[in-house]
Amino acid sequence: MKKSRSSYTDRETPKTPGPDLWQAEWLPLPLSQEELQSIESVLGGWWLYLQEMFGFSSIRLELAGENGEHLNVHQPHQPITTPRSATEQRYPLTTRTGLLGWLYTRDGADEPSRQKELTSLLPLIGQSFEGKLERIRLGRVNNSLVARHNGVFESLVRLLGLRDHETESHTLRVSQITMQLVEHLGLPPEQHTAIRHGALLHDIGKLGIPDAVLLKPGSLTPMERRMMELHVTYGYKILSSFTSERQTLDIVLHHHEHWDGNGYPDHLCGEQIPLVARLFAVVDVFDALTSDRPYRTAWPSTRALTYLREQAGKQFDPNMVKAFLEVAV
Ligand SMILES: [Fe+2]
Ligand SMILES: [Fe+2]
Repeated sequence: MKKSRSSYTDRETPKTPGPDLWQAEWLPLPLSQEELQSIESVLGGWWLYLQEMFGFSSIRLELAGENGEHLNVHQPHQPITTPRSATEQRYPLTTRTGLLGWLYTRDGADEPSRQKELTSLLPLIGQSFEGKLERIRLGRVNNSLVARHNGVFESLVRLLGLRDHETESHTLRVSQITMQLVEHLGLPPEQHTAIRHGALLHDIGKLGIPDAVLLKPGSLTPMERRMMELHVTYGYKILSSFTSERQTLDIVLHHHEHWDGNGYPDHLCGEQIPLVARLFAVVDVFDALTSDRPYRTAWPSTRALTYLREQAGKQFDPNMVKAFLEVAV
């Protein structure tokens, strides 16, 4: 956009920034409402000071767009087309990285000495935006990493589904019920994503189990059962190479531990078993019992619930069975 000089007094040093200063990764436009508020809070912090010092009746910020155009702070993707007031004065606002935008002030600081004084403050004002911009930029990088991380998880779930369709539908159901239980128990929200990942990927280690065992229609021999039990350690090895989410790994490694110590792989008992694994074990077994499997038909829910009650304090944490019954019945 061509710069107009018709409707305001321009205090800008005629320094046209090159395109490299307008890279979106430096000034991440357009800004979300939340990001915008964080930018405005900086201006708000200065506003009282500048009003006191120079007697401005109004002050506002226009951001510099990718091609040097002025962008409305409230609609950051929209170039400004409305005419500005003739009484406004414009000052460029720069950070160490480049031009951030322009401050528009009305009234106050009329004398050249006062304008010089204000101009000397501009780098300070610009610098106070830098921390916010950096946080916005890092926040976006973080969001993009989280999205990629989640993408890897989703791909692994689909990969497991290609091996075994039954496992995929079981996985989706148990992750849904697990999250209901997590809400019911009031577990910290910051653990929710990791728990969901653990539920979705609890059987990912089955990728390492031969078809002859994984898809066997009849019951397993003791040796085949031991082979199948390895899926928890396989899963742990697969996932721990790219995630450190504690709850995810706890579910994957320990979802077959038993409250009385008769589970696997580590024969943990009672509260030695991570809470999320104790919680998930109840959901996992209930769903397995109420689903058709190659080696048996699905149990009715009432029978499966009776089994959970009988196994409270043996296979399962009694408190987790109680919570499950509160959610499921
Ligand atoms: Fe499993
Ligand atoms: Fe399972």
